[in-house]
Amino acid sequence: MKVIDILEEAAKRVHANVKNLAGTKESGTDHGMGAGGDISRKIDIVAEKTVLDYLREINFEGTVFGEECGIVEFSPNPKGFIIMDAIDGSTNAVRGLPFFCCSLAYTPEDKLSSVTDGVVMDLHNGDLYSASKGKGAYMNGKKIQVHKEKPIYFVVGVDISGISPDALPQLAPILSASNHVRHFGAVALELAIFARGLVDVFVDLRRKLRITDVAAGYLIALEAGGYVVDENGMPLDSKLSYDKRISFIAAANEETLADVRKKLGLSPKI
Ligand code: IPD
Ligand code: CA
Repeated sequence: MKVIDILEEAAKRVHANVKNLAGTKESGTDHGMGAGGDISRKIDIVAEKTVLDYLREINFEGTVFGEECGIVEFSPNPKGFIIMDAIDGSTNAVRGLPFFCCSLAYTPEDKLSSVTDGVVMDLHNGDLYSASKGKGAYMNGKKIQVHKEKPIYFVVGVDISGISPDALPQLAPILSASNHVRHFGAVALELAIFARGLVDVFVDLRRKLRITDVAAGYLIALEAGGYVVDENGMPLDSKLSYDKRISFIAAANEETLADVRKKLGLSPKI
């Protein structure tokens, strides 16, 4: 079985198991601190268990690096890692805001830049985004790409949740230059809709994201033709670690990337 098929089947099972739980009081019950450092909610636990049970069922021989469950080894000689954020956008999932997803990525090595396969499933409507390295990005089986033409409305996606007051002024020029700023609350799905061309740029400079939040969306955005760089303009990378925090800019084309970097006070050239 191909890795991408495993990730897709796992995400579909998560969808089936959480669709009636999202937005209920029960979905938000506290299950203690997860490996990623946030409180695990019942919906996170149900979703992770769905993935882990499925991997056990098919005798998966790798290691899972999960946002809540931590590191789960399925074999003494593991063949690669599944980077799992079984529910990205947990707050939305618990409150019933219709923007949350399951994010699963596979990498043979312990770093983001080695990710070869990624799946993001919109758990509200069942849309499935996927990519394998060098093979393009897809939504429900149809090829997708970032917005390459000059858009009628230039849409800026941004994550400013919990941003430190010192970091906020740097973002002011891009926030005020656009009348179309969007912040949805699930970064993996925000990268997927960027990859689909619905948003022209996505900026998160908070240094709060973990590899689990971005691994699948990162590959989908790249395979859809997007540019994804860190705050220094270097190709985004991260080691597989719960301590490492990530900032990034995803842009639909080089011109947009240079313009955004200039507005942020970063050198326009990469
Ligand atoms: C969160 C979401 C959110 C972002 C947070 C992440 P979680 O992931 O992606 O959009 O602002 O930094 O932690 O906790 O819902 O899996
Ligand atoms: Ca997450």
